Amino acid sequence: MKLKDKIAVVTGGAKGIGAEIAKAFAKEGATVLAVDMGEMTYEMDNVIYYQLNITDTEGCKAFYDEIVEKFGRIDILVNNAGITRDAMTRKMTDEMWNAVINVNLKGIFNLVRYIGPQMENIGGGSIINISSVVGVFGNIGQANYAATKAGVIGLTKTWAKEFARKGVPVRVNAIAPGYVMTDILKTVPQDLLDQFAALTMLKRLGQPEEIAKVALFLASDDASYITGQTIQTDGGMRL
Ligand SMILES: NC(=O)c1ccc[n+]([C@@H]2O[C@H](COP(=O)([O-])OP(=O)(O)OC[C@H]3O[C@@H](n4cnc5c(N)ncnc54)[C@H](O)[C@@H]3O)[C@@H](O)[C@H]2O)c1
Repeated sequence: MKLKDKIAVVTGGAKGIGAEIAKAFAKEGATVLAVDMGEMTYEMDNVIYYQLNITDTEGCKAFYDEIVEKFGRIDILVNNAGITRDAMTRKMTDEMWNAVINVNLKGIFNLVRYIGPQMENIGGGSIINISSVVGVFGNIGQANYAATKAGVIGLTKTWAKEFARKGVPVRVNAIAPGYVMTDILKTVPQDLLDQFAALTMLKRLGQPEEIAKVALFLASDDASYITGQTIQTDGGMRL
């Protein structure tokens, strides 16, 4: 029970990678708030669905107040909710640009601005931000997404410094997954997915459970001396 009695928030926790992270945390004894604007796709003891669009600034503050009132604290935050709106730069609309920036960057800020300082106050915590290999390598047709996922790495390094400056062990790390089989890949043609698989040393795409295992490690005391890092979890991908 690596997360016994911990209170965890996982955004985008209703399906895909976020769902596997929420389940892995609950299995290890945490109470998990699965925050999502979409419908919940599973049921599990100790995973509580909370409907919220993380771009809603006031909604995020209300959520934070309600959870701290009810559970007393938040020990773990996984900023996992994210979207893509792909197009070549010359065809990318303002709507596509703004939507991705709003969810993938502003949505994270909306929660960390409250939960980060709260972790300082309670004497520690773990924040895990889900970036992407696209933020590390860049990718054709994903200027908006690549900018946000590289931005997530900058936020991770900044918050690792900012929330630990009083000598309190608030650890902030990122995971940069490669291509992982979830609905977010639904619009990517199979031949492209095969090409991405061929670009990995392990010659395959990832499964959401494989990202959840890394999140569990970073959330737990097993990672007590790891902060400010981005762990590429991509089967050895070179884009
Ligand atoms: N699947 C991949 O190949 C891959 C690779 C690298 C990084 N990632 C990142 O992993 C994270 C999870 O991706 P996934 O593949 O599980 O995607 P997914 O589309 O299967 O799930 C994303 C979840 O986030 C929720 N969400 C989206 N916008 C939201 C908002 N504004 N407020 C609240 N919830 C919102 C959705 O409703 C959905 O349940 C994303 O940040 C994504 O960018 C995914």
